[in-house]
Amino acid sequence: MKRFAVIGNPIEQSKSPIIHQHFAEQFEIELEYNKILATEHNFKTIVTDFFRTGGTGMNVTAPFKELAFQLAHSVSNRAKKAHAVNTLYWVDGQLFGDTTDGQGLVNDLTHLDIPITDKKVLLIGAGGAAKGAVASLLAAKPKQLIVANRTVSKAEAIQQEFDNRLLACDFGSIPDDCDVVINSTSCSLTNDTPDIEPSLLSSIQYSYDMSYKSQVTSFNQWLKDISGAKVSDGLGMLVEQAAESFNIWHNKMPDTQKIRTLLRD
Ligand code: ATR
Repeated sequence: MKRFAVIGNPIEQSKSPIIHQHFAEQFEIELEYNKILATEHNFKTIVTDFFRTGGTGMNVTAPFKELAFQLAHSVSNRAKKAHAVNTLYWVDGQLFGDTTDGQGLVNDLTHLDIPITDKKVLLIGAGGAAKGAVASLLAAKPKQLIVANRTVSKAEAIQQEFDNRLLACDFGSIPDDCDVVINSTSCSLTNDTPDIEPSLLSSIQYSYDMSYKSQVTSFNQWLKDISGAKVSDGLGMLVEQAAESFNIWHNKMPDTQKIRTLLRD
C-alpha cells in the first residue's frame, strides 16, 4: 500500500489524513496517510527516511514549509517564488518540492464566487502564507494587488520578488477603495484584528480569512461590522490545496464538495 504523511508541529489537529482518505475512496485507491510530529532538529532525517523507506508523498505544514523548500533537490517555479514547499515527492531518486497553497486559495475563491479578475485586491500580511498566495492571485489578473503588512519591509520584499507587479504598503497607506480583502495574518488565531483604521476598509465587499474556525473568525466579524462584507474562512482552501496535492501524486483530481460539507459539520 502506498504511504503518505503530513509533517508539522503541532500536528494532532491536522485534517489532512481525513481529507486524503476521502479523496482516495473516490477512486478506490487504498493508501496509508499518517501524521508525523517533527522538530527543527529531526525534520530532515524524518523526511529523508520516509522517502528512502518507500514513502510516496508528504505534505508539509507549519512551521516547516521553508525547511522543506531548502531540503528539496529541486522545486517548482511557484515554490521558488513562495520560498515554501507543502508537497514533497520522489522523482528518480531526487526529492521534488511543490506548493499547492496558492492554487488552493484561488480554487476556493472561484468555488465561493469571490471575484478577483479586474478587482482591487488587498492582501494583509507578508509572511509565508502571503508569499504562497501572491503568484496565484496575480495569475487571476486583479486590477491591482496590494500587499499591506505591519512590518512594511516584508511587503516590499514580496514586491521585489514579483518585479513590482503589486503595491506594497504599511497599514496607514492602504487605499480606501479596495473590493476584496484576504487576511493571511495569524491574527484570528488569537481573536485579534490588525491595527488598521476601519474607514480604509469601508469599500470591501468580500472578506476571505485564510484561518478557519467553527464560528466566524475575528477578522471576518470585524469586516462584517465595518462594511457588511460577504465573509468566508480558509477551510475550503485547506481542502483545495489537498486536492491539488492529491492530483500531483495520483494524477487524479478529486471532487471537493462532499468533504467541504463533512468538515464544516
Ligand atoms: P505564516 O506562515 O502563517 O504567514 P509568518 O510567516 O510568521 O506566518 O507571518 C505572520 C504574518 O502575520 C506576518 O505578516 C505578521 O506581521 P509582521 O510581519 O509585522 O510580524 C502578521 N501578523 C501576525 N499577527 C498580527 C497582528 N496581530 N496584527 C497584524 N499582523 C499580524
